[in-house]
Amino acid sequence: MKNVRENARKLMKPYCRVCPVCNGKACVGEVPGMGGLGSGSAFFNNIEALAKIRFNMRLIHDVVEPDTSVQLFGKKLAIPVLAAPIGGVSFNMGGGVSEEAYTNAIIQGCKEKAILGCTGDGVPEFIHQAGNQAIKNAQGHGIPFIKPWEDDEFDMKLALAKETGTDVIGMDIDAAGLITLRKMGRPVSPKPLEKLIDIIQKTGLKFILKGVMTPDEAELAAEAGAAAIVVSNHGGRVMDHTPGAAEVLASIADKVGDCMTILADGGVRSGGDILKLLALGADGVMIGRPFSIAAVGGLQEGVEKYIDQLTGELKQAMVLTGTQSAAAVSSSIIY
Ligand SMILES: Cc1cc2nc3c(=O)[nH]c(=O)nc-3n(C[C@H](O)[C@H](O)[C@H](O)COP(=O)(O)O)c2cc1C
Repeated sequence: MKNVRENARKLMKPYCRVCPVCNGKACVGEVPGMGGLGSGSAFFNNIEALAKIRFNMRLIHDVVEPDTSVQLFGKKLAIPVLAAPIGGVSFNMGGGVSEEAYTNAIIQGCKEKAILGCTGDGVPEFIHQAGNQAIKNAQGHGIPFIKPWEDDEFDMKLALAKETGTDVIGMDIDAAGLITLRKMGRPVSPKPLEKLIDIIQKTGLKFILKGVMTPDEAELAAEAGAAAIVVSNHGGRVMDHTPGAAEVLASIADKVGDCMTILADGGVRSGGDILKLLALGADGVMIGRPFSIAAVGGLQEGVEKYIDQLTGELKQAMVLTGTQSAAAVSSSIIY
């Protein structure tokens, strides 16, 4: 990982400094780029919310080989992690690798290590084209995320995403905040409930709604027929001054945890962070920027090494909290 990170630092300069801790401080306001929007507070809040959560350490038990696997969307994942959808390698990361090389590294690396990778969307067209192709190359093992485009554009992107062979699809509804897209004449927008129901029915696939930050919207997502939500503020990139995902997760899981899959992302940087979100009610987590660094710095091998690192850290945190199964994490491990 040291070489991967050093290589990424060279290739991503000056877009990402590959800091010892990826916390949004060095890249405040850098959107496009790898930072958080405006003051960067929404990115910081993700990190700080996780840092505030502490573990109860327990060692008088027999957990030595914990089971890190979970079942998500009908698939067995070796660890409860998905590589978050990230698009725009050229204008966010400096283009040291191509969009194609990047998305293939993410999707294949995740497939090889028995987890799931997601792909992003945006303008120009090659962002979703590269993502879809990578998922197709992996025989549908990946999840394409489509932006909340208005009518025709959504339908067109949906048809292309379905051709990948995936049986799960996502929409980052919070990208309605990306005014850059609207300025480029490519409108994205919030969706009223009826419209969302329409969209989900039209997909005919398991549907993930990404960008839910309140219990009331989580209930609406369930009512609309979403199979899953991602509790996420988009890595702090769409609206300044939103809370961290770890701050709002428990109240959302309380409301809809029994009726849908709950994923969460934002600021997850270690196996311990993964375990914290599971203890707060998530079934799985997404990780964004650290996967970008691994993919740019080491392509598929970098992604695989990063997943190995997370797996080791997660196991260690599970042993030290007496957690036998990642599929059944007790809230009592939180102090
Ligand atoms: C450069 C960049 C591009 C992104 N592009 C997308 C995208 O196309 N679709 C999407 O749903 N989320 C996108 N995201 C948000 C991520 O999926 C994820 O929610 C976020 O990065 C999680 O926070 P973390 O990076 O702190 O782990 C992007 C994030 C970054 C940093």
